[in-house]
Amino acid sequence: MIRLTRPAEAAQPPAGSLPPVPAPFLVAQISDPHIGANWDGEDPLPGLREVVEAVAALPDPPDAVLLSGDLTDNGDAAEYTTVLETLDPIGAPIHAIPGNHDDRAALRTAFALPGTGGDPVQWTADLGPLRLVGLDTTIPGRDGGALDATRLGWLDAELARAPDQPTLLAMHHPPIATGVAPWDAIGLAPEDRAALAGVLQGHAQVRRVVAGHLHQTLTASIAARPVLTVPSTYVQGRLNFTASEIDLVPGEPRGFALHALVGREIVSYVRTLG
Ligand SMILES: [Fe+2]
Ligand SMILES: [Fe+2]
Repeated sequence: MIRLTRPAEAAQPPAGSLPPVPAPFLVAQISDPHIGANWDGEDPLPGLREVVEAVAALPDPPDAVLLSGDLTDNGDAAEYTTVLETLDPIGAPIHAIPGNHDDRAALRTAFALPGTGGDPVQWTADLGPLRLVGLDTTIPGRDGGALDATRLGWLDAELARAPDQPTLLAMHHPPIATGVAPWDAIGLAPEDRAALAGVLQGHAQVRRVVAGHLHQTLTASIAARPVLTVPSTYVQGRLNFTASEIDLVPGEPRGFALHALVGREIVSYVRTLG
């Protein structure tokens, strides 16, 4: 039976429906809020608030939140405080990785992340049925990303610790070529992507790689694993393969992703708002 649920009756199960079942383990991914930015006079805070409201209003509350980078535009401590305060209504543990607009040390302090100072911010969160691994792809002071041998060695060792646990790998720069030159100019180099693919080939439990940075939804693959990028809560990338510079559009729908662990596989939903 197809049922159109209107908001006022959302909490009432329809007669003759299937018995209730527990929700799968859920990770909400929110990306690129760029708090503190003022691109063409556009304030990023309403967009983040709108997405947070949508996530907080989901019928099944997420078990965790992933922030996939560019949390702030300038890496200021006050901007991180605003991010944390704005996310408060979701009420789930927050796991953050840096983007090229973030400051590692300030992010680390704000989110009480492991490591020291300006070292790469990377971590593993054992969330019960799902393992979430955050990998730092940033180069301080640069917009492009990198994955050096030290970071990939860390990833290889982390993944080797739990070879049977379904794992979601998060990074800011997606490990793909987009086909859009200005985005690829600030992405990950082919040799870095190949090195990451080599690591992933030894770890079949990594079900999906998720990222931000592109300010738009896109799927591709690496080492036969899906790669998904999600919309920004701020401005969105324009679909423009011949652009000569980064082409962003204000006013396009913001969004978020919801990753559901169904059995031992990850199913990713992307929702846009507005
Ligand atoms: Fe961004
Ligand atoms: Fe970025």
